[in-house]
Amino acid sequence: MNYAELIQIANKVKANSYSPYSKFRVGAALLTQEGEIYTGVNVENSSYGLTNCAERTAVFKAVSEGEKNFRTIVITSDADDFIPPCGACRQVLMEICGKDLEVVMTNNDNEIRILKIEELLPLSFNKDYLEK
Ligand code: THU
Repeated sequence: MNYAELIQIANKVKANSYSPYSKFRVGAALLTQEGEIYTGVNVENSSYGLTNCAERTAVFKAVSEGEKNFRTIVITSDADDFIPPCGACRQVLMEICGKDLEVVMTNNDNEIRILKIEELLPLSFNKDYLEK
């Protein structure tokens, strides 16, 4: 599975985005170490704070299917710019997918930017702090 294929999958699922309030569609494709792919879209709500981002939708789908080992997440939108994951998603991605997760951001010029989640969320709060 290469980046181009994952981007295509994220772009396709973006059509399912439920975003009547922001009209900002986001699609995500999460690749496991074993090569499985879990997709996600943003799901908004009239009570705005209940919105779930595309990245977290994909992660929660994967976890609920028993997946534990992750390699890459691709994020696509209709925006011209690269779309980075929001703070809440960074925290969830770090905990569930681990510091080496590749985060592939895309723009509308078919360019990609790749950073590890550790680079996007340095000095993160994690479960080790709870055990001290
Ligand atoms: N959103 C995502 O799904 N992922 C991101 O990385 C950034 C923001 C969604 C949340 C909301 O539905 C819309 O984009 C506008 O913020």
